[in-house]
Amino acid sequence: MKIQKVGVVGCGLMGHGIVQVAAQGGCDVVVVEAEQGFLDKGLGRIEKSVTKLSQKLVEKGKKTEEQAQEMVTGTLGRITGSLDKADLADCDLVVDAIVENLEIKKALFAELGGICKPETVFASNTSSFPIGEMADASGRPDRFVGLHFFNPVQLMRLVEVVRTESTDEDVFAAARAFGEACGKTPVSCKDTPGFVVNRLLVPYMTQALLMLDRGDASREDIDAAMQLGCGHPMGPLTLTDYVGLDTTLFILQGWKERYPDEPAFEVPAILEKLVAEGKLGRKTGEGFYKWDGDKKA
Ligand SMILES: NC(=O)c1ccc[n+]([C@@H]2O[C@H](COP(=O)([O-])OP(=O)(O)OC[C@H]3O[C@@H](n4cnc5c(N)ncnc54)[C@H](O)[C@@H]3O)[C@@H](O)[C@H]2O)c1
Repeated sequence: MKIQKVGVVGCGLMGHGIVQVAAQGGCDVVVVEAEQGFLDKGLGRIEKSVTKLSQKLVEKGKKTEEQAQEMVTGTLGRITGSLDKADLADCDLVVDAIVENLEIKKALFAELGGICKPETVFASNTSSFPIGEMADASGRPDRFVGLHFFNPVQLMRLVEVVRTESTDEDVFAAARAFGEACGKTPVSCKDTPGFVVNRLLVPYMTQALLMLDRGDASREDIDAAMQLGCGHPMGPLTLTDYVGLDTTLFILQGWKERYPDEPAFEVPAILEKLVAEGKLGRKTGEGFYKWDGDKKA
């Protein structure tokens, strides 16, 4: 099974990146958005990003100006925007990159199940929901995987490829091969909360927040400890400000509700308090730190 024609639903932060890497990898891509304005914005981001990337390759001596231009026109030429899900009917793979809401995602896959050819493989880029529930909603659980890309998709080298107990072996192999075609290193994972990365990362951030809550150490010292002691590029509180306190809380609350006996999924009081105050991290200018754009104020 070879994946050549790919559909992506949602052209936001993650969707536009997935569209771009799939097209750069040689796939024909149809991207469906809810509104023309969002579609135009997403396609504009792709054009800017692929142009910048191709120029970087010229600067590094890896491509000539002519090859860079070919990369831009080739990539953009393989992408078609649409507002109509019917245009996904003959795709080999359709990836969901819409809002993180399980009911909306289940409704999307139920609809796609009625639109797409029987061979189409479905994938969700969800960060926190069980793949199996969406697979059941799609009516074709054997042809369903998780494809969890990381932000920014163009630069992050990992994709987690998630299988449920129903996922067909050939479908799983094709999904891994698609990840490789996108220039990523696929890792395989079962359908468990947070897969590999978030299952380790979110409880780690949570522990840092609980330390701060208890007054064990200051925010600066917690961050400095992990940067200097473990070589991390940023400490856990700065990282939470980057991820978004609301996103972190949303993931944790969902897990806590589903797995109430799992001690790693404790929700720190300080996280609830800051989110209630509208301090969501870098994007609102304040979280654990104050922010001026990309820099701490
Ligand atoms: N942001 C991250 O760092 C990150 C990382 C990994 C995975 N994810 C996951 O990726 C998914 C998308 O997240 P995002 O950050 O790109 O969100 P986003 O809000 O930037 O983009 C979502 C896009 O989907 C569109 N959309 C919503 N419903 C639609 C529908 N029914 N049909 C067509 N388009 C629709 C919206 O208009 C929007 O442009 C979520 O499931 C999220 O959990 C996010």
